[in-house]
Amino acid sequence: MGKETAELLVKLVGFKNFVRQNPKSDRFRVNRFHHVEFWCTDATNTARRFSWGLGMPIVAKSDLSTGNTVHASYLLRSGDLRFVFTAPYSPSISDAADAGNSSASLPTFDHAACRSFAASHGLAARSIAVEVEDADVAFNTSVAHGAKPSSPPVILDNLAVIAEVQLYGDVVLRYVSYKDKANHLDFLPGFEPTDEISSFPLDYGIRRLDHAVGNVPELAPAVAYVKSFTGFHEFAEFTAEDVGTSESGLNSVVLANNDEMVLLPMNEPVFGTKRKSQIQTYLEHNEGAGVQHLALVSEDIFRTLREMRKRSGVGGFEFMPSPPPTYYKNLKNRAGDVLTDEQIKQCEELGVLVDRDDQGTLLQIFTKPVGDRPTIFIEIIQRVGCMLKDEEGKTYQKGGCGGFGKGNFSELFKSIEEYEKTLGAKPVAETAAA
Ligand SMILES: [Fe+2]
Repeated sequence: MGKETAELLVKLVGFKNFVRQNPKSDRFRVNRFHHVEFWCTDATNTARRFSWGLGMPIVAKSDLSTGNTVHASYLLRSGDLRFVFTAPYSPSISDAADAGNSSASLPTFDHAACRSFAASHGLAARSIAVEVEDADVAFNTSVAHGAKPSSPPVILDNLAVIAEVQLYGDVVLRYVSYKDKANHLDFLPGFEPTDEISSFPLDYGIRRLDHAVGNVPELAPAVAYVKSFTGFHEFAEFTAEDVGTSESGLNSVVLANNDEMVLLPMNEPVFGTKRKSQIQTYLEHNEGAGVQHLALVSEDIFRTLREMRKRSGVGGFEFMPSPPPTYYKNLKNRAGDVLTDEQIKQCEELGVLVDRDDQGTLLQIFTKPVGDRPTIFIEIIQRVGCMLKDEEGKTYQKGGCGGFGKGNFSELFKSIEEYEKTLGAKPVAETAAA
């Protein structure tokens, strides 16, 4: 076959020739993401900032008012997304009050570990929790396959079980299971409902956690470690063109469970590129590996972003700079068959990025880092397409539909170059994707 024919074939086969494989190799039954816990130095203020910024009411608490003298924890919820913010109380007071019988609702909490975590990482995610069939089985299977244990299984009030293994850096993968599968608690024992929902309803349309991304110094050993104890497989990432690492400054792998609804991407920095890798910057400021971003699914990304942007300057979250107008001119060619002119206009108004893979389309946008350090940030996404029917005939969307936005690295680069040409030689501010 001549070179020309080969090139032509590559162009023609495009999406169709892309092969996806799912060996369904989970070592134990993993259902869904359950929650994410942040360790901080003051949970009251951090929880309220996230509540207001993301439209997630504080639905439950475990603190001094509920008899917990060890840690203050607040649970935020929007749809299936749960965030928990936890901070330590005075260790001497809790030691004296408990007299060996801890009043902590989260028995995996540790004063010294929480304090050194906050000092070393700043505001950061401590725990990525997944609901599993049986946390005891998940923990023992994981440890038997090389997982480093962090906290052995603990039964909570005979209603739920939690256990933890190390994920990367100081982040743990927390297993949660319920004794009564059909009729279980909204969260965990020891948490009591607040009355915030009725006093001030908050909802910007965020519904669940789509993926939780980690930054690690070296991808291969980190991926091999998590793969070996979970059995998770590598989720194939389709890109229309090769994405040069010189533009992104990173290599990445996405790990997925059997139904590809628990997605754990990981990044490593790439060195020797024009700009310093954003992953390297993260690793330095975070003092090692950690959670880089949490991607939250919105049922209506335009509504969510209008609500979030309204609050950017008054206690909410700020967003990365929007792409130049050239990005949206090209968008009609890239996604005109999926998005209406009106939707493309809204993408431009709100700074939404669009990417697609062989299955569907991804709408995405990134906040600036949420705390003091250039470390953890949030992504808001909406996936379009890939609707399937389950055995009961219920419609659902395939996990990872539309990919993770890899194609936006080159698309942003291209549109910025084009835009700079329209301005003459005047450089424009850089727009970053992740
Ligand atoms: Fe993402």
